[in-house]
Amino acid sequence: MRIAHISDLHITQANEFKEKTFEKGRIAVNSLEPSADLVFISGDISYEGILPEYELAREKIKEFKGTTMLIPGNHDARHMGFQLFEEFFGRLEFYKRVGDVGIIGLDSTEPDKDEGHIGRDKYGWIEQNLKNPDKITIVGLHHHLVPVPNSGREQNIIIDAGGVLDLVLKNEVTLILMGHRHVPHAVRVHNTLMLNAGTFSSARTRAHLGNSFNIIDMQNKSITVTAYDIEKSKEKVMVEFDSDKDMYINRYYPQ
Ligand SMILES: [Fe+2]
Ligand SMILES: [Fe+2]
Repeated sequence: MRIAHISDLHITQANEFKEKTFEKGRIAVNSLEPSADLVFISGDISYEGILPEYELAREKIKEFKGTTMLIPGNHDARHMGFQLFEEFFGRLEFYKRVGDVGIIGLDSTEPDKDEGHIGRDKYGWIEQNLKNPDKITIVGLHHHLVPVPNSGREQNIIIDAGGVLDLVLKNEVTLILMGHRHVPHAVRVHNTLMLNAGTFSSARTRAHLGNSFNIIDMQNKSITVTAYDIEKSKEKVMVEFDSDKDMYINRYYPQ
């Protein structure tokens, strides 16, 4: 299975949104060979969560080929945007299947706040879906569960990160997909790979890290993650991970 993991598009009529970069990135995603079985978008689709942005975002996201799944980010929940998200893109939280892979999408946002939160009241529903007989389980949420280096001052790890970490680790979730920090990053914790996608088309990149997305190739529990730099049209294998073979290689940082 191949997933194009994209995040933090920040589609808006304002300068924050790099439309040309978006188009370049969209062509790169749509031209992947082999093509992606799923385009997973881990939130911050808009900038202010307002109606004209949602209208533009719907048109832009339609241009991705194949199956697309989206979860909201903190920017999407601003100004009652959480209501528009459901109207334009469907449920804020879901359990879906692609082949023998189960995907749980979570809403970590709180209206008009940048901080993230899942909430104990949802743990039962999450755990119930984690126990489905899927070969592989993927959980997606916008906010990060562990700190992300090279992304600026640390803030906005979800306030119940400990509780959510406990849930995903004890149920041996294979992969967590996150965004928010605008930096591609991966870290292994026990048998789980925690993966952040960089920003796809926001002007708020970090230092020399430009706009990017992740290409995830999964065969059973063997995962390869390639970071794709949109401006440079350049791929770099970031991580090779196989929990069954206890193998984890992170090549993201220069040797
Ligand atoms: Fe963002
Ligand atoms: Fe965010």
